[in-house]
Amino acid sequence: MSQKRLLLVNICVLLICAAAVSLAALFAYVPDFDAPEAPVTSENIRSYWAFFLINDSNPLPADYTPELEVIDFSGSREFYLDARAAPSAIKLLNAAESDGVALRVVSAYRSRQRQLENFNNYVERLVQEHGMDESEAITFTSAQIAQPGASEHNAGLAVDILSTDWFLHNNDVTDEFEKTPEFRWLAENSWKYGFILRYPKGKEDVTGFIYEPWHFRYVGIDIAEQIMNTGLTLEEYIGLYPSKSTA
Ligand code: DAL
Ligand code: ZN
Repeated sequence: MSQKRLLLVNICVLLICAAAVSLAALFAYVPDFDAPEAPVTSENIRSYWAFFLINDSNPLPADYTPELEVIDFSGSREFYLDARAAPSAIKLLNAAESDGVALRVVSAYRSRQRQLENFNNYVERLVQEHGMDESEAITFTSAQIAQPGASEHNAGLAVDILSTDWFLHNNDVTDEFEKTPEFRWLAENSWKYGFILRYPKGKEDVTGFIYEPWHFRYVGIDIAEQIMNTGLTLEEYIGLYPSKSTA
């Protein structure tokens, strides 16, 4: 066999092994609970507080407001998460600091009102600065910012993290963040604290949102590990464990 062909065979064998390991990892673990049927209700959100889908098709119950706890007050603003997820975020931030990785929280819990303002401001900016017409701007914005009540930030389960020096070199949050050592640390370590990269590259059609290398969602360590090992999105993972419960 020629060297080239041998190399090709080796690459194929490696790819097959990697796929087999991912599948084995997925089926080796079965959570002892199912995801609630979406959208989550005011009743079952208590049992499934971290493991449920929030997106434009599955908004939070209208009356849902999480109990909050501060996670970061190093900058000029304080940032909060659901009090049950906050200790994990604090551990993540401390672990990064111990590893010499300088992270900066730029958004965490947001009220529905704040979400609405973010959405409208973005639309306005596209119209004013980029000359888009309003309906085009709304469509564009909808792929980047969730509707009020349909954002993981509104549940206090998502945190946007950049590097401390990001805004020294950039005016905006962009997917260029993926090129930084701070992102690489987050991509490798966030699952250990129960957080997943929620809007991965190449899965925009599944999540409905652009690639956001800065947006991390708390789901708990077991599920975060599974999602990390399998490369599934939360939509796909929850699809594997439909609810049997009526709780
Ligand atoms: N940027 C994400 C999708 C949000 O608004 O929650
Ligand atoms: Zn976010």
